[in-house]
Amino acid sequence: MEGITLDIDALKISLLKGKEKDIVYIHGSGCDATLWEKQLEDVGGYAIDLPNHGQSCAAEIRDISDYAYFVAKAVKKLMGSAVIVGHSLGGAVAQKIYIEYPKVVKALVLVGTGARLRVLPEILKLLKEKPEEAAKMVSKYAFSNEALADEFSRIFAERARVLRLDLSLCDKFDLLEDYRSGKLKIDVPTLLVVGEKDALTPVKYSEFFKNHIPSAEMVMIQEAGHMVMLEKSEEFNRALKNFVERLQ
Ligand code: COA
Repeated sequence: MEGITLDIDALKISLLKGKEKDIVYIHGSGCDATLWEKQLEDVGGYAIDLPNHGQSCAAEIRDISDYAYFVAKAVKKLMGSAVIVGHSLGGAVAQKIYIEYPKVVKALVLVGTGARLRVLPEILKLLKEKPEEAAKMVSKYAFSNEALADEFSRIFAERARVLRLDLSLCDKFDLLEDYRSGKLKIDVPTLLVVGEKDALTPVKYSEFFKNHIPSAEMVMIQEAGHMVMLEKSEEFNRALKNFVERLQ
């Protein structure tokens, strides 16, 4: 896997590159591009480090649209348009890219995410006061696999500040009414992937998309939690490949 850096405005934005494919992956809260290593190897494409994450530079980020701006610019520079895959917060970013920069979106893959992403107030409070406890709690909710939950509990504790920023942005993200009223209509091919045991963005959030996005196909992966691309990478990659192959 190759690391590449793009200059976007005054910022260095870092990406990991797998096999050549017009797919761009966006990670969730407190994560980075390495989350998608198994997809980059097996399916291909580029995984971005959002500003303030991984190897990308720091930036003042006020809302999800600010993240969408940097990803859309990266897609334009790299290939013009791409299949945008977003997990959790990354799925909110993907929806904003579709709304604000539709030309860069060939198709959407919304993974363990929702049209509204309210966060348990207890998590936000703990992140401020007791970051290690909060990191443990988020990891426990995020994984159905205990070993991965322990590993990520350490990672999230080290990144408590950025995790808190990301989750507070998620908490404000809300497109539910836009979908319900028909103001927002997604009309590109869309794949929904969700872990059966997702405790942070439950299956009903994906079912809501399924009912409001005419083209949406939904794949629910058994025995997986919120971090479905890590916990069940083979099943996840099979669903993604099947979707992407049918686009060409
Ligand atoms: N898609 C479809 N429906 C949604 C939705 C979504 N993305 N988000 C919320 N809703 C629905 C809920 O199901 C609920 O419907 P109901 O009244 O029929 O049960 C309604 O909208 C209101 O729910 P919500 O916005 O979640 O507010 P709440 O005050 O009921 O609960 C939380 C707030 C934080 C307790 C709750 O959102 C939760 O448990 N979140 C998951 C845990 C978490 O922190 N996730 C992090 C996501 S990044």
